[in-house]
Amino acid sequence: MTIVSMIVFSGAQEDLTKIPCGQCHTPSGWRPLLVETRFNHDQTLFPLREKHQMADCIQCHRGNTNEELHQFSMAETTCQSCHMDIHHGFLGTSCENCHNSQSWEMTNWQKATDHFAFPLEGAHAQIECSDCHGLGLNQISGTLTNDCFSCHMNVYNQALAAGTHSDNPNCILCHNTRAWTPTDMSHHDLFFPIFTGKHRGEWSTCEAECHVNPSDYTDFSCGLNGVCHEHGQSKMDDEHDDERGYVYDSKSCFQCHPRGEEDD
Ligand code: HEC
Ligand code: HEC
Ligand code: HEC
Ligand code: HEC
Ligand code: HEC
Ligand code: HEC
Ligand code: HEC
Ligand code: HEC
Repeated sequence: MTIVSMIVFSGAQEDLTKIPCGQCHTPSGWRPLLVETRFNHDQTLFPLREKHQMADCIQCHRGNTNEELHQFSMAETTCQSCHMDIHHGFLGTSCENCHNSQSWEMTNWQKATDHFAFPLEGAHAQIECSDCHGLGLNQISGTLTNDCFSCHMNVYNQALAAGTHSDNPNCILCHNTRAWTPTDMSHHDLFFPIFTGKHRGEWSTCEAECHVNPSDYTDFSCGLNGVCHEHGQSKMDDEHDDERGYVYDSKSCFQCHPRGEEDD
């Protein structure tokens, strides 16, 4: 009984007196504890679930002395007070946005919705977090941007070196995240309508009528010089005989017809 009085009289009463010793200890000795302690941990701010249910009390309620050990309310509830934050603070303090106490896998993380700064679509949905963020997601802030070029400059430089690729590092104009080929030109109408308006259905491939120089897409032909019957020189010269400043040249066609329409 000496130990009991030592505990009771040394300032740890608050916890000890609130909960009768018999809720956790048996009459036959302080150890082992009751197999099922009568104290219901769900009453605390930290219900024990999953792997926490299997842990020993003293793994969380530590103390060098018996008094310290019995100050149960001293245990901190934030994950990082007991577990090392391998992300060094980069992912914030809400560990439970991604983890629960079952395992360190991303149980609470919804790939489709939670990666809001850079939606993981196409090929990016198939790869590991670490392929972009490094191990332990230690490259979250600062080092990553969502600019395609920043991660894909190698393949881009290879394509440029092969002489078959236009020098425009704004990949998303012509590609999507599923694959590099086929290209995705669905934004093209923003620059010059080819899927709507007068030029819809009037071309076969990018290179055949318009981008005759595959290593420079800013060099376009407007189908001149016989490539496109509609834009034959004599016909065009006739059509524009009263237009000041008219020349039979692609850049000037584009200047007067930026949307590929008669009056625009
Ligand atoms: C809510 C549960 C709980 C209550 C209530 C509780 N204890 Fe404990 N007690 C523990 C735990 C947990 C340990 C550590 C067991 C271990 O080391 O595995 C412990 C350890 C001890 C030990 C040390 C045993 C050893 O062999 O080192 C003593 C002594 C002790 N308690 C006395 C008391 C007394 C006296 C009371 C009532 C005033 C009390 N305890 C109330 C949970 C409790
Ligand atoms: C995985 C960690 C963990 C384990 C294992 C654990 N606890 Fe706790 N416990 C906590 C945390 C964290 C709190 C603090 C909650 C709070 O602030 O109310 C707590 C609170 C308590 C409290 C209430 C303190 C108060 O005054 O509100 C008691 C009593 C307690 N635990 C007893 C036990 C006993 C007995 C065991 C073993 C059967 C145990 N705990 C196992 C983490 C744990
Ligand atoms: C008061 C201390 C404490 C707090 C707070 C705490 N844990 Fe634990 N946790 C433990 C202990 C002790 C274990 C069992 C021993 C171990 O595996 O490290 C454990 C185990 C785990 C495990 C299982 C690890 C494995 O390898 O199987 C996971 C996952 C886990 N905790 C996640 C969390 C998360 C998420 C939080 C915050 C919501 C949290 N823990 C809060 C003490 C704590
Ligand atoms: C945005 C989601 C996210 C958040 C928030 C987050 N983590 Fe993680 N955590 C991960 C991912 C993903 C992994 C797996 C890392 C890997 O495979 O490269 C991981 C792994 C871990 C691991 C296991 C490392 C191992 O050895 O397997 C621990 C421990 C961990 N995180 C602790 C924490 C703590 C503590 C916090 C809160 C301070 C936290 N995490 C917040 C995503 C997150
Ligand atoms: C294809 C590359 C890529 C993959 C794969 C990837 N991320 Fe990201 N992640 C990014 C980029 C780019 C950002 C945005 C960085 C910025 O804007 O600062 C980002 C941002 C984040 C952020 C910051 C919070 C936010 O949404 O703004 C977290 C957390 C994160 N990623 C976690 C993950 C986790 C967990 C995985 C695995 C499930 C993952 N990422 C997979 C590229 C990737
Ligand atoms: C934070 C880095 C990062 C950013 C930003 C990024 N990607 Fe990726 N992407 C990857 C990684 C890593 C892979 C898988 C490895 C690889 O194929 O290079 C990948 C794969 C791809 C693939 C599949 C390649 C193949 O060979 O199958 C395409 C296509 C792709 N990304 C397009 C894009 C586009 C378009 C953007 C801009 C919207 C973009 N990526 C932005 C990292 C990134
Ligand atoms: C102006 C449009 C345009 C832009 C911008 C663009 N590409 Fe392309 N890219 C193409 C076209 C057209 C092809 C040829 C597609 C085919 O062969 O079907 C291509 C092909 C590729 C290929 C396959 C090349 C090969 O040799 O197999 C890769 C890889 C590629 N692009 C990467 C990129 C990257 C990375 C970026 C941004 C840094 C980018 N592209 C920007 C139009 C573009
Ligand atoms: C100086 C401005 C200017 C230039 C340069 C110019 N156009 Fe025009 N274009 C016009 C105007 C204005 C009309 C309308 C003429 C009219 O109705 O009399 C027109 C009419 C047309 C039409 C007839 C539209 C229709 O539906 O009947 C076509 C096709 C055309 N241009 C194509 C071209 C091509 C190809 C070039 C380059 C070789 C070109 N234009 C250069 C101003 C220009």
